[in-house]
Formats: sequence, structure tokens, C-alpha cells
Amino acid sequence: MRSQAAETAPLMGFHDLGHEGEDFRAAALAGLAQPQKQLPAKFFYDARGSQLFDQICELPSYYPTRTEIGLLQRHAGEIAEAAGRDAILVEFGSGSSRKVRILLDALEAPAGYVPIDISRAHLMSAAQALAEDYPELPVLAICADYTRDFALPGDLPEGVPLGFFPGSTLGNFAPAEAARFLKRIAGLVGPSGGLLIGIDLQKDEAILHAAYNDPEGVTAAFNLNLLQRMQRELGAELDLAGFRHEAHYNRARGCVEMHLVSRRRQRIVIGDRGFDLEQGETIHTEDSRKYTLDSFRAQAQAAGWRPLEAWIDDRRLFSLHYLVAA
Ligand code: AVJ
Repeated sequence: MRSQAAETAPLMGFHDLGHEGEDFRAAALAGLAQPQKQLPAKFFYDARGSQLFDQICELPSYYPTRTEIGLLQRHAGEIAEAAGRDAILVEFGSGSSRKVRILLDALEAPAGYVPIDISRAHLMSAAQALAEDYPELPVLAICADYTRDFALPGDLPEGVPLGFFPGSTLGNFAPAEAARFLKRIAGLVGPSGGLLIGIDLQKDEAILHAAYNDPEGVTAAFNLNLLQRMQRELGAELDLAGFRHEAHYNRARGCVEMHLVSRRRQRIVIGDRGFDLEQGETIHTEDSRKYTLDSFRAQAQAAGWRPLEAWIDDRRLFSLHYLVAA
């Protein structure tokens, strides 16, 4: 055990809301039984998938991560001003902590950092590293599925909660789910709280296509990893080489859709269940919704938020919104 010398030990606490074992099996069985076969995008992020996603963020054609980081750097001062003193930064899905560090460096006397993530190992190592680099900052990690209902722990420091939901992950949610999530976060941060959220924008189709069809094949590997995860965790019998990655922009829905396309007639077997695919039939694995500034603001307003400020890059690729309780 580490000694508890108050001046040196990082202030770190951990709450486990016990959602980690969420049922991939149940989700896979239910999704593959649909007329349009589907798997929820949140299951991309096992250890291998999280690694591949980190690689996606470095790809030249994947503009969202570096554009959002540029916006955070450029507007950190304004964000800090809007947040004021004693902000408690509550991050939904603590990916790489690069983005949160930009905020923590700019905020005036932040009162705490609360990363929330479903992946326990990933969460613990990121929170530990951050606590070591910010020894004065109370860090309280919560292992939970933030798409479900949960409360902030009672032992939070005094301060004003500021939600942080970067990366345009909201775009994975169906509209009704997104509305529910935004309402729930409003309740969670309370009447003095705020939400800083990254939202990807509608744009030229060629840019979107390149971002989800990188020549390096990392996005394809990320998509196909879902099938490997089914093999690893569910003992699924399937022919990996019988599938290929597919991503396209569905303009009518305003979404980049990702699918796994079956190259031939085949059957996926999980336990005593079999799922037949025709040649060319797909498993729909992700929607990545693209918004306009106004379409996002309208959705935020409907969920009880007041849009205070929005920042976009010169190429109008990506937006960062600061919302406060209405
Ligand atoms: C993390 C959900 C925002 O939709 O762009 C990246 C995931 N999928 N490449 C996105 C993803 C394919 C990403 N989000």
C-alpha cells in the first residue's frame, strides 16, 4: 500500500457502480435477431477497441479529435471564464485525458475532476495518471455506464459541476436517447451547472467519407473488432474474412452509418442460436450523427439547456458548445 502522506499522495477516490459486466451477449443476441441486424456502438470499446479508437484519433483523415483539441486550446480562456472558480469537471467517457488537461490547465482553481467510464481498467489508469500530474486536485473516478441513470457520489468536493462530453459521442445516440441523456445531465449538474459538449457538423461528403474510410484500414479494424469480440467473449462461430467494413453518409438521416457487410451467405452461431446472413446483408454497427449549429442548439434547448456560447474552427468542421441550465 502507498503511504498516505498528505502532501504527496494524489487525491484519488473510486466508485464502482457495477455496470461493467453489461451484457454484450444479450445485446448481440437481440441485435442479430432484428430484421436489420445491429450491434450497439458502445460495445466497440473493449481493450482492443479502445486502442484502435486511440489510433483513429491520430489518423490524418479523422479530423474530429484534432479539430476539437484546437478549439479547446484556442478558447480555453473563454471556457474558464464561463466556468468561474471551483468548477468540478465531470467527464462522460474518459478517453485519452489530453482534452481534459487543456481545461484543467485553464480553469481557475478547479475543485475536482470526476471521470466516468464503463471500462474499469482504462478509467483507473487514466485517473491515476491525472491525479499524479495534478496533485492538488481531488480526482473521483466512477465506473459506470453513463448512458444509464446514476447520481454523482455524495462525497464530492464543494464546487460547481461542469459536465464535459467531448468527441461528438452524442452523435452515437438515437434522437430520443440523446434527448434523455441531455435532460439527465441537466439534472445531474443542477441549476448552477453547465455542460461543455463537442458536436460534429454536417459537411462535404468527401471529408466525411475519408474520415470513416481511412486508407490505413484502422477504422475497418475497429469495426471488425466487434466480430472478434463476439468470438472472444461469446464463443461465436463466424468467418471473420467473410465480412468487410462499410461506412457511408446517409444524407437523409444526417448520419455516417457503419456496417459490417457479409461477403457471402453465412451463419453466425452463438451458443444454441444461429443467425443467417445473405450475401451483401449487413450488421449496422454505428450511427455517427452530424449536426448543424442550429439543430444541436434546438435539441439542447428542448432538453432544458440554454446555449451560452458555441465555437467552431475556420473550416466549420466541428463545434464546441457551452450550455448552462435554462
Ligand atoms: C467516438 C462516436 C464520436 O462517431 O466519429 C470513429 C467513433 N467511429 N470512427 C465517431 C468512430 C468510427 C466516433 N465517436
